[in-house]
Amino acid sequence: MMCYPEVQLKAQVELDSVVGTERLPQMDDIGDLPYIQSIIKEVHRFYPTVPLAIPHATTANESIEGYFIPEGSTIFMNIYGIYHDEEMYDKPNVFRPERFLESEYGTKPGADNTGLRPDFHFGSGRRICPGIHLANNTIIMNVMNVLWAFNLSKSNSDSRNPSMPITLDDFVQGISLVPKPFKCDIQPRSDKHAALIHSAFSEARSNFFMYEQELAEEDK
Ligand code: HEM
Repeated sequence: MMCYPEVQLKAQVELDSVVGTERLPQMDDIGDLPYIQSIIKEVHRFYPTVPLAIPHATTANESIEGYFIPEGSTIFMNIYGIYHDEEMYDKPNVFRPERFLESEYGTKPGADNTGLRPDFHFGSGRRICPGIHLANNTIIMNVMNVLWAFNLSKSNSDSRNPSMPITLDDFVQGISLVPKPFKCDIQPRSDKHAALIHSAFSEARSNFFMYEQELAEEDK
């Protein structure tokens, strides 16, 4: 199993200096959190959610850079391949958010990154993901909140449950990269963090009340 406690620690040092412990993170904070931004970019690069995008088909014969592509061909965009190209990225199979602090696209010195964009993982062209802004904003809020609030670690119960190892190379089969179920420990970082989470939850309750009419017993 691979684990990145040093990434979590660095993220929490940054969050503590910008957000502190008197309030939860807010959307505006992200501009002051370059390491959190680089974690999000590195997660997208390391394991893009939809690694071959959604297949498309050509509606006419095409010629691109000497390649003839007949009408009706199925086209995959190899996002995973682009993000793991050794000519572009130093040690592409290593999870290292710092690469995005060292260069805009995380590419290695001397790499020709003229064709790169920061958001290849949302696809390309006219059918690019329309959920891009909702996804980006949701991910930013969740990554900031989770790392600010909790310590995450490998579950101690692993040895009692060997059928649930944490692995980074075994996924549910499908078009998107969905990890298989795994166990981990998630603990509030302090009583103060826990109290703030409880009070934010209480404040948000009235907004969510209308959606909570048929909650399962365990969620009440
Ligand atoms: C991490 C979050 C997400 C990622 C990485 C992602 C990625 C992608 C990719 C790669 C495609 C294929 C684009 C192409 O063929 O060029 C796609 C299509 C699509 N995505 Fe997302 N997506 C995300 C979240 C969302 C959300 C939150 C929504 C809706 C609220 C959404 C709705 C769609 C739809 C409707 C399409 C099909 C677009 C079309 O074919 O016209 N996605 N997404």
